[in-house]
Amino acid sequence: MSANLAAILYLIAGVLFIMALRGLSSPKSARQGNLFGIAGMVIAVGTTLAQSSVEDYLWIAIGIVAGGLIGTTIALKIKMTAMPQLVAGFHSLVGLAAVLVAGATLHSPEVFGITDEAGIRLISRIEMSIGVVIGALTFTGSIIAFAKLQELMTGVPLVFKGQHLVNLCLLLGIVALAVLFCLTQSPTLFWIMTGLALLFGVLLIMPIGGADMPVVISMLNSYSGWAAAGIGFTLENTVLIIVGALVGSSGAILSYIMCKAMNRSFISVIMGGFGATASTISTGAKDKTVKPGSAEDAAFIMSNAGSVVIVPGYGLAVAQAQHAIREMGDLLKKAGVNVRYAIHPVAGRMPGHMNVLLAEANVSYDEVFELDDINSDLPNTDVAFVIGANDVTNPLAKTDPSSPIAGMPILDVEKAKTVLFVKRSLAPGYAGIDNPVFYNQNTMMLFGDAKKMVEEIVKALQA
Ligand code: TAP
Repeated sequence: MSANLAAILYLIAGVLFIMALRGLSSPKSARQGNLFGIAGMVIAVGTTLAQSSVEDYLWIAIGIVAGGLIGTTIALKIKMTAMPQLVAGFHSLVGLAAVLVAGATLHSPEVFGITDEAGIRLISRIEMSIGVVIGALTFTGSIIAFAKLQELMTGVPLVFKGQHLVNLCLLLGIVALAVLFCLTQSPTLFWIMTGLALLFGVLLIMPIGGADMPVVISMLNSYSGWAAAGIGFTLENTVLIIVGALVGSSGAILSYIMCKAMNRSFISVIMGGFGATASTISTGAKDKTVKPGSAEDAAFIMSNAGSVVIVPGYGLAVAQAQHAIREMGDLLKKAGVNVRYAIHPVAGRMPGHMNVLLAEANVSYDEVFELDDINSDLPNTDVAFVIGANDVTNPLAKTDPSSPIAGMPILDVEKAKTVLFVKRSLAPGYAGIDNPVFYNQNTMMLFGDAKKMVEEIVKALQA
């Protein structure tokens, strides 16, 4: 394939990736966006494989078959609720790939055509240093994020005295080593720098608490993109540079949006939980009382209400109650109730988690409202039906500065005339804190699995 044709095909792939991102920005166009992304990737991979520089297809074929099998098996088996840790796991592989490519380049620079009479070209040394550092910290940072999300280690911020000073010294050390490597081409300095970047990745993610994990995932997504762009520079592959930059910048924009949604400082998050303190975990109040209710009570209250706002959360995803909740919503609408759905930006375990579930159950987009659009209307709402959500409704975010979710905007469900809470127990949510709304006078707890409870409510509504 001629270089010109390859350049044109890479350009087409790049445009398709941009169209994919545009499509993915709205649930309505997300499927089409995915198709654009797949088409772009097929063109990009096909073009790369057709390059004259590719001499042997055996190892490539082995890699494609092995990676394809592993990827397909994981994708088929993974539960949607475990998606964030899967994403973190995949990000770690991008980081590792960047480290391995940089290592291979250092070992055999002539194979990559990046040498001149002085050895490795200066610009390539700079690219390798940036690529390996971002790759290494993405690799270990993603592993720590995976371990926290999979609950292999505590989700509580792990902080120690002088942590920010240690991080700063590490960062300065990495920069100094990168400069020295660029001047000397010493492999020893290169690998010490890589080691420090691996450690930096661990220290960067360790102090980030469970409640801030959504931001971390999108931040690691961004880092993995920049690591891929770094590999693209090393391999002089235009499409990898384009894709890496697109992933890097869209991940950064998503992190920024999430920071705004959770009222976190963007800089403090990318600097590794700057300002985080170890917070206490509450396991539910033992001396307070709640008002439990049944499915029949809930059906009676809602069918006599003028307006119901359904607030889905992580428990809805666990119970796979999205189809049942739509059925319940449809029955209430038939009975003349104004039914709307309120989605918090970090409800569930990944960005857009609830939107995807409701879309899967064919809930009309017109009935789905973002936090900012519905909060002011909650005081005029008869019933807030909170199903499997907890942290995103917790008013401690506004009143307790020591809470792990302090400052995060919440859905003000307690302002509705009646609050119905569907969950299995009084156990706390992801952030590990008790929710005072459970004990309010206007709250009725509907204890049980979300899907079973809603199915019973549906039966009661049909009776
Ligand atoms: P959570 O605060 O985690 O609360 C979910 C509630 O669902 C739990 O209290 C649990 O109570 C209940 N539940 C679990 N399984 C259930 C089932 N089968 N049936 C009924 N209820 C069930 O969820 P949320 O309000 O959606 O908030 C999300 C949290 O996750 C936030 O803290 C957020 O920061 C964090 N997070 C979000 C993301 C993104 S990007 N969305 C990523 C990582 C972390 P019981 O055990 O009593 O049933």
